[in-house]
Parts: sequence; structure tokens; C-alpha cells
Amino acid sequence: MLNVSQTNLQTHLVELEQLHPHEEVDPDHLRELIQQIALDGVLKYAIVADRKTKVILDGEHRYTVLKSLGCRRIPVVYVDYDSPSIIVQAWKENCRLTKRDVVEAALSGKRLPPKASRHMIRNSDVLVHISAIEQKVDVPLEVLKSELAYVPLEMVKTAMYVDLKDVLPIYSRFLKTETADTPLVLDKKTKVLLYGYEAFQALELLSAKKVPAFKVDINKVEVKTAEGLTKEAIIKAAIGGVKLPPKSFTIMGGEVKISVPLKKLRGTERHDVKTLRVYSGSLELLLGGWPTPLVKLNSLSTNGRSVWAKLECYNPFSNSVKDRIAWYMIKEAMEKGEFKRILYEATSTNTGIALTSIANIFGAKTKVYVPMTVQRASDIYLNVLGAEVVRLPVSLTVEAISHVDAEAKAHGAAHLNQFENDANFKAHLKHTAREIDQQLASLGLKPTCIIGGLGTSGHISAISLYFKTKYGDKVKIVGVQPAQNEVIPGIRRIETGMKWIQWTTFDQIVDVSQREATEAAINIARKEGLLVGLSSGAVVHAFQKIAQEKGVYVLIFPDSGYKYAEQFEKYLKNEFPNRQN
Ligand SMILES: Cc1ncc(COP(=O)(O)O)c(C=O)c1O
Repeated sequence: MLNVSQTNLQTHLVELEQLHPHEEVDPDHLRELIQQIALDGVLKYAIVADRKTKVILDGEHRYTVLKSLGCRRIPVVYVDYDSPSIIVQAWKENCRLTKRDVVEAALSGKRLPPKASRHMIRNSDVLVHISAIEQKVDVPLEVLKSELAYVPLEMVKTAMYVDLKDVLPIYSRFLKTETADTPLVLDKKTKVLLYGYEAFQALELLSAKKVPAFKVDINKVEVKTAEGLTKEAIIKAAIGGVKLPPKSFTIMGGEVKISVPLKKLRGTERHDVKTLRVYSGSLELLLGGWPTPLVKLNSLSTNGRSVWAKLECYNPFSNSVKDRIAWYMIKEAMEKGEFKRILYEATSTNTGIALTSIANIFGAKTKVYVPMTVQRASDIYLNVLGAEVVRLPVSLTVEAISHVDAEAKAHGAAHLNQFENDANFKAHLKHTAREIDQQLASLGLKPTCIIGGLGTSGHISAISLYFKTKYGDKVKIVGVQPAQNEVIPGIRRIETGMKWIQWTTFDQIVDVSQREATEAAINIARKEGLLVGLSSGAVVHAFQKIAQEKGVYVLIFPDSGYKYAEQFEKYLKNEFPNRQN
């Protein structure tokens, strides 16, 4: 039932062409009305039409006025003409007029004479004229004349803030209906938003690329403002000025609706699972997460030099470069039939975490041997993952290998041995090195220098082999090791013995102290907002030692700083030797 007091009757901005008048207009009344509406500059009230047939039931004169004033659209309240609460009456007594007569007159073009009909609504027991449901909208004629344009969202300039709680109902409506139903109005010249602030914000939250807008000349519309606010002040607020409070101004008296599918405003969005980063399991998360990001370090870059960090902490298990080799070692062990229900490994943390995580996926267990020098927190991470942790009285992981090997043999466990297993080198040759090459190529760049820490030597040796083979001596490879008697988690000195470093060439090996590595890591955290690990800090310090003014530098950051709270705490408490600041 149609109820006059219903407030949910909406006013739609409908193209004049879509509507069908059912009676002729009275020329005298038309002339008067043209003058009045042109003088007002706005259409005050919506007309009424049948939703299904688009036959105008009330407001034929306003319709004709707008047509003659060059408007394209008119505000319409749609009703269901079939509803028994809408009644048609003939103005002349003793004349019978049916709804069918009205529709036929409209659709055949054989219109009824002026004032032949009137439509009434039954409201409870009384009949009221249908104009009672015509909403007061005060839509500027400029808006009704303008064509609906699809304007790139970033071109729109806003002059005032909005309250999020005013936006959310609109946002929810758009999201639910997948339709934008509120038009925006922009100043043609400046693209300053004059109407539809909440809808604009809702569209932004819905990631629309374009917005539906009517473009008008701000000088030709009346802006209803808080006292004293001029049009110039509105434009100034939108273009570089301080934004005005919510609801400081509007150009329309009521709400008018359009209907634009959100799809049209969002443009083509890629919906494939890869772009949206949906993975069917955590192992797929590892493989599908490659390439890890290559990020420009602006604090180290200059006009002639760009410096890039390869962020290996984006690997999901150990949040380090070691996920790659753990997967490759396990994969190859499975292929060779050497995978066992229990894996033993000597590790300074990262390989242990990565191996345990992947072993968990395959229902296997790990026992990891960790040097005394490694931070205490590692035991907790490893225990949470289900690893058995054995602390050994050695300072370097590599010193534990023979012990781990003997234990594994004695207990029937697999010892994948990251220090000797070529799957380590292969993982970096196939992935890490090629990723960097492709990432730089996407920018039209070739590296002039790549710097990486030496632990097993797996990653930087593979990177060296790849780039030296492809670019020869145009690319410089720099290895980083701790200075004599210094401990930097994850890296060690060449003389302690490394396999793959022998397979390729290095242009330079740089020594870094623990203090230098820590300070460089802190510096990156404070300049770039990236909390990187200590071996990454060592790489940064090495870069600072050798950097030239020109070139493309790639720094390999093996992990993040979160595992090294104990070392950072020591430094911040001034418990480091030779602290300089
Ligand atoms: C934090 C960290 N940095 C650097 C490295 C050295 O990497 P690679 O073993 O590939 O030489 C490791 C290896 O354990 C590490 O865990």
C-alpha cells in the first residue's frame, strides 16, 4: 500500500526521453511556469510517474518546462500505478477515465486534453492529491541540463571533510546493491565537488576509479552555505586550502537518485587468485610469495645512484632467506627418497625454523642444534613450532656439523646439512638471483654492485655465479663477513670454511663489526622504517664503506630485526664495546 506519510519514497533523476506525458499542457499555465522556474533556477518539486510504463501521472507542465529550457533530466518519484491505492479521476464531471485510458493515451501519443485527469492516493480513509508525495528537492536547472559524466576519482577536489558515520550508511547501501545511487555535482572548471560529499567518500572506500558526476558552472548555481561562506572560499578550501567542516554547504535541497553499477566505476579489476594472493596452503604461500620485494632505499640513494634492498623477511616461515633452501633441501630429499620422519640440523635459528615449519606440513619432526651464542628467544620460536632444541657449547653453527651428522646417523634421522647440500645453492640460483635480475629489468636497470652476507655462502655465491655469468665484470659482487672476533648472527668469516664461495668470484670481502652492523640496522629502521636484522645491517655498513656516487646497488637483507631484540637491547643500554653515539 502506498502511504503518503511514507518517507522512503525516493526521487530519481530520470532522462526526459524516458518519460511519457499522457495529456497536453495548457499554454497559459506553461508560459507562467517557464518564467517562474527559469527565475528560480531550480526545480523545487519532483514529478510522479509509473515505474513500469514511465507514464507521467502528475507534473506534465514541469516536464514540458524543463524540456523547453534545455534540460536532460527531471526528478521523478516512481509509484506502482497498478496499486489500488492510486486512483484516477476525470476533472470533468460525468466523464469516466480509467488507468488504461491514461496509459494508452501516453504510449500512443494521442494525449488527453489539458487537465483531463487527476490522480489521487488513498491514505487511510481519505483521498489526497498525488502531488502530496512529490518531494521537495530544489535541484538546480544547471544540474538537470548537464550530462552525467564519469570523472576519474583523483581529479575531484574536495572542499570539506565528511563525518565517517554519515558515510557508512551510503557505503553499505552501495556495497549491498552494487550500485551507486547518488550523483555528485562538480564545478566544471575547477572540478571542485559541490554536492555528494558522503557519496564521494563512500565511492573512494569502495575503490571506485571513476565517479558519476554532473558538471555545472559554480557561478550559475545557488550555493546554500553556512553564513558568510563565499564561492571563492569554497574553491580555495578545495585547492590547497584548509578544508571546511562537514555540511558547510550544499547546492540541493533534497536527495536525488541515479543508478550506476559499481562495476562501471571500478573499471577492470583483476580477480585472479594470484593477484589477490589467495593460497591453497602454507607451502603454496611460500612459493606463490616469490619474488620477494625489491625496495628502493631512498635514504641511501642519490641522483646518480639507486640502492635497492631485497627483502627476504617476506618469506612466510622463518621470515628469512632460509625458507627457500629449507624447501629445496626437503623437496630434493623427498625426490631422492632420503626424506625421513625426523630431520636433524645445525642452525643459528632461521634454517631451523624454516625446516621445522615445512617438516610440520609433511608430518615430520626436527631436532635442531643451536650454538650457545644465539639469542635465547630462538628456543621459544623453535619449541612453539614443535622442534626439539639442543644448545651446543660452540660459537659457530658450522662447528656443530660433525656432531649433528654422527647423531643423525646413530638415530636414523636425516641430516640435510645446509652447509654442504647443493639444494641450498640451487634454490638461490633458480629463484633469488633470477628474481633480482627480472625485478631490475622491469625498471630498465642492470646492477652494478650486489652485496650479501656470508653464512653457508649459499645465496651470495649463487647470485655471484648468475650475475658474473650474465654481465661479466660489469657487476661487482661483494661478500660481507664479521670482523675478527665479532659475532653477527647468520654470517661468519670465510676462513671458517664455505663450499660455494669456491665456485664463483667475489670482487671484495668487507669486514664489519657487531657494533657497525647494529648501528647500520638501526639507521635503516629510523630512515626507512624497516626493522631489519643484524646481517642486513652488516650489508648496509659494507655498502657505506664501498659505495661510489654512481650505480645501481642491490643489498640482500636476509631477515628482519624481530629475532634480535636481545642484541638491540644490549646496544640501546650502552652495553656494546666502542659505541660511538
Ligand atoms: C640472518 C642471516 N643472514 C645471513 C645468512 C647467510 O646466508 P647464507 O647461508 O646463504 O650465506 C644467514 C644464514 O643463516 C642468516 O640466517
